Amino acid sequence: MTLCGWVESKRDHGGAVFIDLRDRYGLTQVVVGPPEAEASLIDEAGRIPTESVILIKGKVADRLEGKTNDKLDTGDIEVRTEHLEILNTCATPPFTPSQSDLPGEDLRLKYRFLDLRRKEMQQGLMMRSKIIKTMRDFFAEHDFIDVETPILGRSTPEGARDYLVPSRVHAGKFYALPQSPQLYKQILMVAGFDRYVQLAKCFRDEDLRADRQPEFTQLDLEMSFVDADDVMGLIDGLVARTAKEVLGKEVKTPLPRMTYDEAMCRYGHDAPDLRFDMEIVNVTSVAAKTEFRVFRGTADAGNFVRGLNVKDAATKYSRRQIDDLTNYVKEFGAKGLAWFRVEEDGTLWSPISKNLDEAHLAEIKELMKGEPGDLLMFLADTWEVTCKGLYALRKRLGAELKLYSPDQLDCSWITEFPMFEKDEETGNWSAMHHPFTAPLARDLNKLDEDPAACRAQAYDLVINGSEAGGGTIRIHDSTTQSKVFELLGIDEATAEDRFGFLLNALRYGAPPHGGIALGVDRWVMLLAGLDNIREVIAFPKTQKAADLMTEAPGDVDTDQLTELHLRTVGIKKD
Ligand code: AMO
Ligand code: AMP
Repeated sequence: MTLCGWVESKRDHGGAVFIDLRDRYGLTQVVVGPPEAEASLIDEAGRIPTESVILIKGKVADRLEGKTNDKLDTGDIEVRTEHLEILNTCATPPFTPSQSDLPGEDLRLKYRFLDLRRKEMQQGLMMRSKIIKTMRDFFAEHDFIDVETPILGRSTPEGARDYLVPSRVHAGKFYALPQSPQLYKQILMVAGFDRYVQLAKCFRDEDLRADRQPEFTQLDLEMSFVDADDVMGLIDGLVARTAKEVLGKEVKTPLPRMTYDEAMCRYGHDAPDLRFDMEIVNVTSVAAKTEFRVFRGTADAGNFVRGLNVKDAATKYSRRQIDDLTNYVKEFGAKGLAWFRVEEDGTLWSPISKNLDEAHLAEIKELMKGEPGDLLMFLADTWEVTCKGLYALRKRLGAELKLYSPDQLDCSWITEFPMFEKDEETGNWSAMHHPFTAPLARDLNKLDEDPAACRAQAYDLVINGSEAGGGTIRIHDSTTQSKVFELLGIDEATAEDRFGFLLNALRYGAPPHGGIALGVDRWVMLLAGLDNIREVIAFPKTQKAADLMTEAPGDVDTDQLTELHLRTVGIKKD
């Protein structure tokens, strides 16, 4: 046989050289030794630097007894080399793909071509390719047509900062890279395409986190004559199919659904991790009756006392560790963390229990379903702070106490999001999803009466506590659209200026329509059981939006700037 690949490692066993030859498909042991190889070839093999590229010809043979390796697919055999060519040598690499201690991420990103030789990276990208194929097959089978939309366009309404591209031809004017194909896909519905899908590159200049990139991929789709159930039902099928084809896992459909309000009550967040229980419990009614200043005062001010029952954790967290957790929740605005241990005799013990009547303690324990050995933790604060703090605390405890297994897959829908959120500083309403999102039919009157209570025909797909997709049914009548713009403080002139082409299209016979976009990078990350989106993107950017390999963004010539009618001003050198 002939094999080509990279020299992952090499062992010289006096007279014979053993090479682990790596290619995309795995490792094979190659032996360069007598009688097949001559002394000069054995010598040469001994001198090949690791990570060089070689071609060998030889015969497949069983390994000697006792020398087999069950950890390798090819562990029973080796190739006895008759001919060897060095196709290219490798300079001394800053790290090798097989080394067990992973180098720092910056070095990995700079030498991405070496990093991508690592088995984990290759497996991740192969899984990505498989997920994308599954998605493409699925939508083709469901009569979707793939339409590409422009990258150079107008600003879209997802609400992050735009990446702008200056126009050479139109002095002083800019294209915006799409934050999503939102407006185009709605126009495709007006054009009668009925079922559109696209793997779309999206660009958002926002604060980056472990699950966000400035440039990412959406599986974007839009459908006409559908309601929210239709879209969610379709995606249920995609989730089940992908889990089955990629992970060999059965996912039961329809996926569970929960409204936004319920998610905030039970988990404090709109993308809860449902791999484990530990729901938030509201004990404000009891807190209001107690003499404990913190509880009573909070309840009297119209705020909330809510808590978590951390099962069987009473002895797992020392006073110092609880102090740590207290400091942790303070990062989310909490003022403190009140806690109780459920003792063997069923009573509650805490440094603050002396401030509370036994009857009230018993009521708290009952509401919390406390049992001996449990640790009860409470935040007394505004609704928002209790949500944020308890969400973060629950997430941390879930991971620390290993309340789920890493290969668990939990998918569900969060529905009926609020239409609007209020900017605390300016007091202005902004769209929670985007300004074309339709309110629930039963909430139409709330647009006038109580915008805060108005719920949207919006749905998010949540996988293992991450937002893996989001979409809405769109507004297709101009009265509702004008009302929403008005509430958002977008006057007619601004609306025309920003979205005129869409509003115009909607006047020419727009069908009812809606859709969703799935975060492909996040899907791969979650299905691969990883928590860093950069691990499943071939050439990702750092937290500071830089590509360390190509050194983008980079400098450009003054001539290029002049051509684009640009001049840089006020730039501080680091
Ligand atoms: P949305 O803004 O919710 O909706 O985006 C859809 C999904 O895209 C993923 N995502 C990201 N992934 C990586 N890096 C990012 N910076 C990033 N931002 C978003 C998430 C998210 O759920 N036009 C609407 C969709 C629609 O209404 O049809 C939209 O873009 O997984
Ligand atoms: P203090 O009387 O402020 O020392 O608080 C007594 C206990 O209540 C401490 O354990 C605090 O961490 C806790 N505590 C104080 N404020 C809050 C709050 N807003 N929510 C929950 N616990 C609190």
